[in-house]
Amino acid sequence: MSNFEFENLIVNIPDYPEPGVIFKDITPLLADPQGLAAAIDQISDHFMKAGITKVVGAEARGFLVGAPVAYRLGAGFVPARKPGKLPREVYSQEYALEYGTDELQVHKDSMGPDDKVLIVDDLVATGGTAVATAKLIEQTGAKIVGFSFILELCYLNPREEIAKEYPQEVYTLIDVH
Ligand code: PRP
Ligand code: MG
Repeated sequence: MSNFEFENLIVNIPDYPEPGVIFKDITPLLADPQGLAAAIDQISDHFMKAGITKVVGAEARGFLVGAPVAYRLGAGFVPARKPGKLPREVYSQEYALEYGTDELQVHKDSMGPDDKVLIVDDLVATGGTAVATAKLIEQTGAKIVGFSFILELCYLNPREEIAKEYPQEVYTLIDVH
């Protein structure tokens, strides 16, 4: 399973969503039965013995990876959502985008000090979304065990960005240099 050729199922889209950017389209990987299973299993197997009680994924693509990983780990899934989407009391965390800021929220009662949390997403680029998600989890008092992504855009140095604030493991399946 660990030798699965994920790279063949990631499609590069030049100049999307803007000129000069190469968009990494993971939808062919999600649509491939073997690819989807290999990605979810590999992330889940890596953290199987870590005692994870909650998996947190950021809207929207983090949901696609987070819910099946949570199921495989026997953990719960907690969505970190864009503002105004969650109906009860929330913790909020702003984060910087290339232009302006965005915000993620979790329900205040979605996790707590007894939880061990894995943060997942489809890809990590600057690390901004991952760090914002981690800060939300800290607000709940839960313990962050690690981070996992299908794709790592290594040339943007997300590992270094995350490590500035979080020493926890960052586990990824595909390095993009
Ligand atoms: C993409 C991707 C990650 C994030 C990574 O999400 O799904 O969540 O960017 O970038 P970063 O490491 O620089 O924060 P996007 O914000 O495009 O939204 P989506 O998941 O709703 O498509
Ligand atoms: Mg996203």
